[in-house]
Amino acid sequence: MSRTIIVSNRLPTKILRTDNSLTFQPSEGGLATGLGSIYQADGNVWVGWPGLFVEDAAEEEYVCEQLRQDSMVPVFLTEAEIRDFYEGFSNSTLWPTFHYFTQYATYEQAHWEAYVAVNEKFCRAVLELAGPEDTIWVHDYQLLLLPAMLRQARPEATIGFFLHIPFPSYELIRVLPWRKELLQGMLGADLLGFHTFGYMRHFLSAVSQLLGFSSQNGQIETGSRTVLVDAFPMGIDYERYEQAAASEAAIRHEATYREALREVRVILSIDRLDYSKGIAQRLRAFELLIQRYPEWREQVSLIMVVVPSRDQVAQYASLKEEIDELVGRINAQYRTISWTPIHYFYRSFPLEELASLYRLAEVALVTPMRDGMNLVAKEFVASKANQKGVLILSERAGAARELSDALIINPTNTGELAEAMHDALVMPEEDQIQRMGAMQALVRQYNVFAWTKLFMDRLAYSKMKQHTLD
Ligand code: UDP
Ligand code: G6P
Repeated sequence: MSRTIIVSNRLPTKILRTDNSLTFQPSEGGLATGLGSIYQADGNVWVGWPGLFVEDAAEEEYVCEQLRQDSMVPVFLTEAEIRDFYEGFSNSTLWPTFHYFTQYATYEQAHWEAYVAVNEKFCRAVLELAGPEDTIWVHDYQLLLLPAMLRQARPEATIGFFLHIPFPSYELIRVLPWRKELLQGMLGADLLGFHTFGYMRHFLSAVSQLLGFSSQNGQIETGSRTVLVDAFPMGIDYERYEQAAASEAAIRHEATYREALREVRVILSIDRLDYSKGIAQRLRAFELLIQRYPEWREQVSLIMVVVPSRDQVAQYASLKEEIDELVGRINAQYRTISWTPIHYFYRSFPLEELASLYRLAEVALVTPMRDGMNLVAKEFVASKANQKGVLILSERAGAARELSDALIINPTNTGELAEAMHDALVMPEEDQIQRMGAMQALVRQYNVFAWTKLFMDRLAYSKMKQHTLD
């Protein structure tokens, strides 16, 4: 039977070591939450890292067995690999470069070597598992070399690749010492998917300028093979979020929050701790809102969820300090005995609690400096059964290409952001309903199932086309 083998660095389940036991919990991040709804169909398997350093063979066996029951196959990383491949090349070289933060990027030969070695490790794990009929679907920037490695071992394999983060302009890619190897790695796939046409165009331009391969209508001729490239904006499992928001648990949690907050209106933001998310800029904009419009004091609070992420990487650790300091200062300066300007949570929440926050908030602030897509924006939309609520969305999130009925802002423009918050708080209900209704129709239709089908159909087409040419 043919099935799809999904491969990503992060599995949808992550394992934490607490005291002397292991806890299994859902991973955060758009890749894991988005694909989490589709991977268990048709005998599919997901290969990836469970986020844990295993201590001995017995523990490894236990983890393998537990994950196998949920169709997952773990790839274990050593402590050195976590440091050099994950925190190093993936999150200190590629992540900052692809999000236009080159000032944070490091270029370490040892990190590159670990990146090659871990991609080879994933390659071996996939080859052990994949039959000739299986489709292999590789995900994201941690595994850019894997498509070509798989292609070399299995020239006939059907291989798709999807990038969940932006693909930046050629001017940023060219800075990387290993730029050609990375592009060649990606070109091992039959089909390469990006969230937007903009990212796809940047990729085609980099391939043309660095490798000299021309393309026509999203089709690259490498000399030996044809590779298709296309934009597939990722969706969410709409019904899952719609139902979670309508659940009794979410309604109960909302009531608890409401009681504590009394009449105070809520602006919400939810992100992983990441400098790409514009968290500090957003806090400054909220401060500007209550400076410019003192009438909102005691009337509006910001609930800000920051999910711990990559905190061993220096830039993340210092961002955490900056946020702690800013929240502390703003709260100390403006709070009253009965009002807290910013409710800041540094932890992750289970789905029903996230859903209750989506219900509670009148305004969602999604203001990244750069974001491949941003699924939180879509989840907020799906959670608003009564269509009341306003989304403020950065023009530099992939989601802004689709959600044009949001209030679209430039996240570096603090004044514009403060004004957008004010506009959202005074927006007439009819306007809210009209905008939210339009966004819901789109997010509902282009959900994660439609996204998968479009990608898979196109992958099958690319294979058929190659066979016709042979
Ligand atoms: N998320 C979560 N638990 C939390 C907060 C967020 O599972 O406590 C999820 C959120 O629902 C969303 C994902 O993390 O699906 C974040 O994805 P997004 O595309 O917005 O950003 P990314 O983290 O992938 O950069
Ligand atoms: C983003 C990336 C994913 C990654 C996730 C969480 O969504 O595109 O590849 O899994 O962030 O980050 P982490 O480093 O914890 O896997």
